Amino acid sequence: QGRIRAEWDRKVQKKKMELNFLWQIVAVLLGGYAFVFWFLKKVNEWYYVGRLGKTEFPLPPGDMGWPFLGNMLSLFKCLRTGDPNHYIHHLISRYGKTGIYKTHIFGRPSIILCRPELNRRVLTNEETFGLGYPKSVFLLTGEKSLHNVMVAEHRRLRKLITSPLNGQEAIAMYIKHIEKNVIQFLDEWASMKKPIELVEELKKATFKITTFVFLGYIKESTFRATDTLFTDYRRGLMAPAINIPGFTFHKALKARNKLLKIIRSVLEEKKAMAKSNEPEGKKYMIDLLIDVEDEDGKHLDDEHIADLILTSLSAGFDGLSMGSLWGLMHLAGNPQVFKKATEEQEEIVSRRPSTQKGLILAEIKQMHYLAKVVDEMLRMTNTLALFRKAKIDVSINGYTIPKGWNVLAWNGAIHMDPTIYENPKNFDPSRWENMSVKQPGAFMPFGAGTRLCPGNELAKLVMTIFLHYFLLNYKMERINPESPLYYEQAPLPLDNGLVRFTKTT
Ligand code: HEM
Repeated sequence: QGRIRAEWDRKVQKKKMELNFLWQIVAVLLGGYAFVFWFLKKVNEWYYVGRLGKTEFPLPPGDMGWPFLGNMLSLFKCLRTGDPNHYIHHLISRYGKTGIYKTHIFGRPSIILCRPELNRRVLTNEETFGLGYPKSVFLLTGEKSLHNVMVAEHRRLRKLITSPLNGQEAIAMYIKHIEKNVIQFLDEWASMKKPIELVEELKKATFKITTFVFLGYIKESTFRATDTLFTDYRRGLMAPAINIPGFTFHKALKARNKLLKIIRSVLEEKKAMAKSNEPEGKKYMIDLLIDVEDEDGKHLDDEHIADLILTSLSAGFDGLSMGSLWGLMHLAGNPQVFKKATEEQEEIVSRRPSTQKGLILAEIKQMHYLAKVVDEMLRMTNTLALFRKAKIDVSINGYTIPKGWNVLAWNGAIHMDPTIYENPKNFDPSRWENMSVKQPGAFMPFGAGTRLCPGNELAKLVMTIFLHYFLLNYKMERINPESPLYYEQAPLPLDNGLVRFTKTT
């Protein structure tokens, strides 16, 4: 019995040793894992922050994420929910509401700003903060385009294009083109037997309306070719700048060249018409751009005009289609706002003389409530950030922004800040009646400073005309009102905005 007992003890002892060994391995593995995790999490910090040496002030709070990836995975996770501001909420919960954070996203060490005065300061200081958009944007927008020219040349170009793009005379002239197309699209949607995907329909409509305003009538076959090329071109803007056949960026560059060729051919046609005095007249943006001249009597050359038209088409496309989408969605989803906005439109139309056909600028200026609807939509349609790059070391609010780092002015987070906008998730156009003194920098849907969107009046015009005709003559019902969102340049419903459109008059 003694032998059996000894044998048993030996076995127990052996088992214990085996278990101990196993625990040691687990502990080493866990320790190793924690060390590798800690090490990898520190690599970016050492590489980007460590090599700066001593800075005048500390860097803002935040973390630099993983090697190569930075914090892109966390950002993507937030974008999948359709709300990029989740990323800011996460920073606030970890580091407090400083309104300035360091991070590493879009392949670069970056500083995020989300406080009105800070964002405004950066956007209005072109001497210190240059543009910081990804390389693909610079390459695809062309050397002479607005995106790539700086300070003095940028100022010259902006001065030249302001009136053809946004001037009162030009705006008044564009109303008829926009109106004609808007009515055509709304009627087409209402005549469909099945529900329509509003996201896709509005992309088509916005592209057609802007091409028409910019270039005038172009053949249907050319238009269709332009539409496809434009899609390829836009895909390249956010793709890595790899110019090898098969890559998105390469395809986008090819699309850009073809698009420029089409725009140049329209230009030539226009110039030939002007020479032969054809009565086609100065009707479209391209005509105004051909005519515009600076103080020395110098005109824009063809390359400039073509680049400018393509950049403007591209810059305006998302904002316009997403703006019109959310304008329609919010109105359809808020019956009281819908009623109040419709009453305003009916009243304006009722005062119209019987000889007048369609909208005029004076009427649009009387649409005070609808203007608030548009502002409220712009506030809530969160775009990501405006990209800048620090040209020198800058100290801001007791922190250093290092030279060469990207600076992201995250205006969308300011637009949804509950300390600035009460109940920011409520669509409430009347909030603008009470906000008598707007805090500088608290509302910047079109940016600020020298890069302020030069198409802002045109954009508001298109959205206003869409909403005007919608309110007076149509009804829209969402098939999946609770559809979750995802993010692609703006928050979009996962069901692609499936709606049933009906004509009410
Ligand atoms: C709701 C619609 C729109 C929104 C929300 C919007 C927003 C913006 C913003 C925020 C900027 C500033 C970018 C920056 O500072 O980095 C900008 C620039 C620009 N936008 Fe718009 N935009 C809209 C429509 C349009 C339209 C219709 C056009 C064309 C006529 C246009 C043409 C441009 C151009 C050319 C720039 C570059 C300006 C420069 O670099 O000087 N945008 N837009």
